[in-house]
Amino acid sequence: TGEIVIAPSILAADFARLGQEVAAIDTAGADWIHCDVMDGHFVPNISFGADVIKAIRPTTKKIFDVHLMIAPVDPYLEAFAKAGADVITVHAEAGPHLDRSLQAIRALGKKAGVSLCPATPESAIAYVLDRIDLVLVMTVNPGFGGQSFLESQLEKIERIKAMIGDRPIRLEVDGGITRDNAAAVAAAGADTLVAGSAVFRGNSAADYAANIQAIRTAAET
Ligand code: DX5
Ligand code: ZN
Repeated sequence: TGEIVIAPSILAADFARLGQEVAAIDTAGADWIHCDVMDGHFVPNISFGADVIKAIRPTTKKIFDVHLMIAPVDPYLEAFAKAGADVITVHAEAGPHLDRSLQAIRALGKKAGVSLCPATPESAIAYVLDRIDLVLVMTVNPGFGGQSFLESQLEKIERIKAMIGDRPIRLEVDGGITRDNAAAVAAAGADTLVAGSAVFRGNSAADYAANIQAIRTAAET
């Protein structure tokens, strides 16, 4: 589906200056803004919720890519839609009714994504391919930034790329993405790369721009 999208994860930003950090990655060339929502239940960490997303929404016009690591998820979809999410991604493992959650996201007028944890096989999305706009392959166990990329997921990315075929579905990777593995994930079929610690390394918008550009260049070659 076209060119590479780079989606910095604001989980790695300075939360005390979150609005300025979002503005900085916008200026630095981020395509999408990746928002990691964690509930301390589905994943062993708590991050931020819809009110924080709503607060930072006015700081950029870029696409808000909201990754929900929460269970249950259905009761909160409307709040994230109203907060300004453009893409809402739920986990296949978050509950027994993935198809219903995806229908609910589209009914709210948003793009629907499904994410798979490292141990979940690609077959989990076999019967929802016509309900989704994005597949997010976790390349770490969700919950924390700064973890190491799991090489085991390259084969899953390749298999999902084949399952997608010519459907207009983006294939996103998230976790441990750096300028050193961006080429491998892109070669496997990923077209949308999340990166947290690899983007927010350094302390200026110029550092962020260089980090984003290095990942983009690696993915595009
Ligand atoms: C992990 C999150 C990721 C994470 C990425 O649960 O979904 O988006 O913040 O951070 P890095 O790039 O540091 O692995
Ligand atoms: Zn994420």
